[in-house]
Amino acid sequence: MNSFLRDSPARAHDFDLSASSDELAALGSWRELPRVQQPTWPDEAELGRVFGALRSAPPLVFAGEVDVLRHRLAAAATGEAFLLQGGDCAETFEDSSANRIRNKIRTILQMSAVLTYGASVPVVKMGRMAGQFAKPRSADTETRDGVTLPTYRGDAVNGYAFTEQSRVPDPERLWKTYTTSAQTLNLLRAFTSGGFADLREVHSWNQGFISGPGYDRYEQLAAEIDKAIRFMAAIGADFDALKVVEFYSSHEALLLDYEEALARIDSRTGEIYGCSGHFLWIGERTRQLDGAHVEFMSRIRNPIGVKLGPEASVDDALRLIDKLDPEREPGRLTFVTRMGASKIRERLPRLVEGVRDAGAQVAWVTDPMHGNTITSSNGYKTRRFEDIVDEVVGFFEVHRAAGTVPAGLHMELTGDDVTEVLGGAGEIDEAGLERRYETLVDPRLNHQQSLELAFLVAEMLGRR
Ligand code: PEP
Ligand code: CO
Repeated sequence: MNSFLRDSPARAHDFDLSASSDELAALGSWRELPRVQQPTWPDEAELGRVFGALRSAPPLVFAGEVDVLRHRLAAAATGEAFLLQGGDCAETFEDSSANRIRNKIRTILQMSAVLTYGASVPVVKMGRMAGQFAKPRSADTETRDGVTLPTYRGDAVNGYAFTEQSRVPDPERLWKTYTTSAQTLNLLRAFTSGGFADLREVHSWNQGFISGPGYDRYEQLAAEIDKAIRFMAAIGADFDALKVVEFYSSHEALLLDYEEALARIDSRTGEIYGCSGHFLWIGERTRQLDGAHVEFMSRIRNPIGVKLGPEASVDDALRLIDKLDPEREPGRLTFVTRMGASKIRERLPRLVEGVRDAGAQVAWVTDPMHGNTITSSNGYKTRRFEDIVDEVVGFFEVHRAAGTVPAGLHMELTGDDVTEVLGGAGEIDEAGLERRYETLVDPRLNHQQSLELAFLVAEMLGRR
């Protein structure tokens, strides 16, 4: 049997919720180390109060779920499953509405149906959701019309409005991050267990998507999936079982005060879990080997990711593995590469070969978004759909040549009809960006572009 299905540890949800335990105290070791991208909170006492409140609040995710995910990612690393991770660049409190969350979940489920068909392996579904409220920034300040203010660091830290007041970091926002994540997870858990994820429902996208101009090349694959679903229904396949899907939450573990406050001890094992989300990752800007983020993440049991940009060396990768996955545990470590379409074929090979030759086992995932950001001539931060696709193609090519496994896809997307990324079959052009550009940080694929990408990747996976 596929190990994806075989190794599902059913573990109790059992936590030591006391705030004073010695084991949790060890989690504060990051505080002794150089830290980057942390806000300067103006009121330390207020931060301490919120930290205490978060520490005694219920965990958002549970050790048993986190352990199952680690097994799923171990399967992805060997090609027995495929990871689809997607969601906003930055979630916002305002956009955490039921409709927007539902649209995002639906988009990810639809993409996953297409990918499952293409790959003939299970797709591990994961949102950049229910916690993705903090952003690393390249500049500490932002200047508009001669006025310079602190940069926006995500709703978890300060406000987007360009006023002095709004840009002051406010610890109360960490509490709001927790409650908004809890609300989002509540919907996520309801939608993915209450019939919404039923394949037949998910499938009704088909009509709307395929009818537009430029989409005919996907018609055949869509028709095949349609036929497969009708066949399953006809032979009486167990659709009840398909009404429930596993769906995991993830975000960049950027704000270490928040992450530490939400860590909990699994009292069955004494081990520490980050309970703000199932999968947590370290960004390209915070992966310093001797820095606070790597130290913190080395102490939690979750499966974790590290972003690797074009400047990452084999030595960086191997030392990250030694520090974050000393036991070489399957599913523990995922490298999310974000090289840029023009660099991936030149830079990725030595990384995957170096890791392969060292005998280390990681899941290699492509983020084809963050290396392909450009500014349009009318001033929008955008990306070209064709560059995104090209980076994914390059990712598959490199792995095929190295004999390694392309294990997944990490996307910035939304379920709404925004116009933030150029191109795709809908042919969004520069003027089109003005129609519905809503993101506060990075441009996201809209619903149609997301599905289109899924069809293209499904073709590649079919050849994997
Ligand atoms: C992100 O994923 O939104 C991000 C900031 O990515 P990176 O750390 O790869 O730049
Ligand atoms: Co981003």
